[in-house]
Amino acid sequence: MEQKRYGHFDDLHREYVITDPQTPWPWINYLGNEDFFSLISNTAGGYSFYKDAKFRRITRYRYNNVPMDNGGRYFYLKDGDTVWNPGWKPCKTPLDFYECRHGMSYTRITGRKNGVEASVLFFVPLKKWAEVQKLTLTNQSNEVKQLKLFSFEEWCLWNAATDMENFQRNFSTGEVEIEDSTIYHKTEYRERRNHYAFYHVNTPIQGFDTDRETFIGLYNEFADPQVVMEGKPRNSHAHGWSPIASHYIEITLKPGETKDLVFLLGYVENEQDQKFAAPQVINKEKAHALIAELDTTEKVDKAFAELCDYWDKLLNIYQVKTANDKLDRMVNIWNQYQCMVTFNFSRSASFFESGIGRGMGFRDSNQDLVGFVHQIPSRARQRIIDIASTQFPDGGCYHQYQPLTKRGNNDIGGGFNDDPCWLIFGTIAYIKETGDFSILDEMVPFDNQPGSEVTLFEHLKISMDHVIKNLGPHMLPLIGRADWNDCLNLNCFSWDPNESFQTTENVSEGTKAESLMIAGLFVVTGEDYVALCQKLGKTAEAERMQQAVDAMIEAVKKHGWDGEWYLRAYDFYGRKIGSNECEEGKIFIESQGWCTMAEIGADDGMVAKSLDSCKKYLECEHGMVLNNPAFTKYIYEYGEISSYPEGYKENAGIFCHNNPWVIIGECIAGRGNDAWSHYAKILPSYVEEKYQTLHKVEPYVNCQMVAGKDAFRPGEGKNSWLTGTAAWMWYTVSEFILGIKPDYDGIRIDPCLPETASDYTVSRKFREADYDITIHPNGSQKGVKQIVLDGQAIDGTVIPYSKGHHVVEVTM
Ligand code: GLC
Ligand code: GLC
Repeated sequence: MEQKRYGHFDDLHREYVITDPQTPWPWINYLGNEDFFSLISNTAGGYSFYKDAKFRRITRYRYNNVPMDNGGRYFYLKDGDTVWNPGWKPCKTPLDFYECRHGMSYTRITGRKNGVEASVLFFVPLKKWAEVQKLTLTNQSNEVKQLKLFSFEEWCLWNAATDMENFQRNFSTGEVEIEDSTIYHKTEYRERRNHYAFYHVNTPIQGFDTDRETFIGLYNEFADPQVVMEGKPRNSHAHGWSPIASHYIEITLKPGETKDLVFLLGYVENEQDQKFAAPQVINKEKAHALIAELDTTEKVDKAFAELCDYWDKLLNIYQVKTANDKLDRMVNIWNQYQCMVTFNFSRSASFFESGIGRGMGFRDSNQDLVGFVHQIPSRARQRIIDIASTQFPDGGCYHQYQPLTKRGNNDIGGGFNDDPCWLIFGTIAYIKETGDFSILDEMVPFDNQPGSEVTLFEHLKISMDHVIKNLGPHMLPLIGRADWNDCLNLNCFSWDPNESFQTTENVSEGTKAESLMIAGLFVVTGEDYVALCQKLGKTAEAERMQQAVDAMIEAVKKHGWDGEWYLRAYDFYGRKIGSNECEEGKIFIESQGWCTMAEIGADDGMVAKSLDSCKKYLECEHGMVLNNPAFTKYIYEYGEISSYPEGYKENAGIFCHNNPWVIIGECIAGRGNDAWSHYAKILPSYVEEKYQTLHKVEPYVNCQMVAGKDAFRPGEGKNSWLTGTAAWMWYTVSEFILGIKPDYDGIRIDPCLPETASDYTVSRKFREADYDITIHPNGSQKGVKQIVLDGQAIDGTVIPYSKGHHVVEVTM
């Protein structure tokens, strides 16, 4: 069935262009690259924060609201009796034209009504703690236009969690100051906070409002604020209740005339002894300075050009040119962009994550690194140190930490037994990209305790040891609270709906619950670790760990094979999970992915059989489901996985994150046709073409989950943006399909392609070199015959690293 379309890609500008504001779900973008961040929907909904979406929330947001996505930065234009917004919402006055262009860290929303065009460019300038909103008004009519403009932002009282619940306090703490065209939000600044926010416009204003109920009216809504409807500000001064910021500006536009206004939402921190300019009056020096840097169109345009240039440079590190524009746009633009976003936010702030519950995940952030490390290695380096600093001396670790404090999160604690392995995965990806072995000598504490520092290498070692020291009766890794699958809770046993499956006390005494997913992960990362030790001349350590890896391979072959696929786990009592013997959940994807990547039993045909079984039992039109058959009832011994209805989330949803594991397994096995067909099923550009309405969520990025074949509406997507899928899709396509793999001494070339692939070129910057690599597949799925480097044939498949520009021809 032909599906309605809401937009299209504009590859030249690296934008997704939304042409209908009523998308099937808010389609959002992220602004900001390092400290100051914003989420923005295609109708300008969303919010801003500094570093931490929980502790430093700048503007307020209402999640899961009716209507959806209410609240944001709104511009109300009153033209005679017509009130409208450039982004259609919240007034929803029908527009003569609407367009939202989501680009690389910026969004431009344009609306036209009755001969007036209003276009707003939203972005966070590099290294600035502010969101710029450049509003361009153009009179396209033949008459003079007298417009009344009201801006709007609603302040969050900083802590996004208490902001939503502690009203007995909140309604009495709100404070603002107004100075010329700037409204300052200074709630709690009088006591312990050393920060305030402001909302400025670079023109004199004719009025303002700072009290929400005065501006909107208690019985009105965002769609019809009282003040806007009356066309007159009330110059309200908030004391308590809900402080907001609204400027009122009168604008006259002659026919054909254009005016720019620059609005600035800024954040400032002051030293304790410099907080006040006078009793009760905040020190505004830094705000003035920030405003002065961005108070003209020229300055803003320059900052925007710098941002675009920054993205040009980042994206140019890896560019591919194939005959397939759907592939190129994902590899060259959107997949890399999503990788930066997931690196920045982990799983904290999206339209599916409130930004309150979760900080940075130990396993999540390590995986995100493989999508990001080629972009800004120095930030990846710092991230690795931050993550490792939340580890415990026994190799276990906090499952999450807060980005502001970098402290482990006590509410969730540790005990997820896959976590330690991911530190090895992330660190090795970093070293292979950069050649920077010195990171291994960094002194890194345990649980952030000063004085407890050991080298990062030592952290990797105890990570490996944590697995070895926690083996179960089959010599397979004990699962702990859960492995990668947070919802396979084999030691939890909960009948209390008030308990969280993740945090409740586990019965670990006497458990036999083992994970084949961790077994495969241990073999893959263990082999990498062994190679690293050899590289470092740590021969004894390499041998010690090789033995452990070999033993694990034997244990999987002996106790982890079900005949046609790898088992998933053993439960608390030592019974098989993910076996043909089971009534439901006979086969799971995670262990197929990791054990095929690890090539366990490849010579005995296990890998090929496992991959075939994925096709036979897990694959459907929209991708591969997590398990099959889906669980139809709650299983006390399995936990959260069986709590989801069939086809959703970890119960037989298409959990996009783990599809690439099987795809990599296919690539390693040399099955390019199968790898490609799995990959294309979850590639956003392919889905975009087919299913905008069904898929619902943003068509330019991956989402965590697509409803599986057993679901009520297979193909419906949820939880977009913040998913490990981004990094895994990148790792898969860049290194295993297109076959450009950073290695310690150079770039390994090893593509795995569908037979139909034609010649393609990858331009890859690598350390201080850049390579133009052309691959001639000649109808082959795998196997490099010859590499010619700068006109000279070389031996093997690794292009040895050397500075400068190189041309490489690869024949398969
Ligand atoms: C979520 C979590 C991730 C977990 C996955 C599977 O994406 O962020 O840590 O591995 O779900 O449960
Ligand atoms: C829930 C989600 C799962 C997520 C976990 C972590 O279990 O279903 O995907 O990883 O919460 O909080």
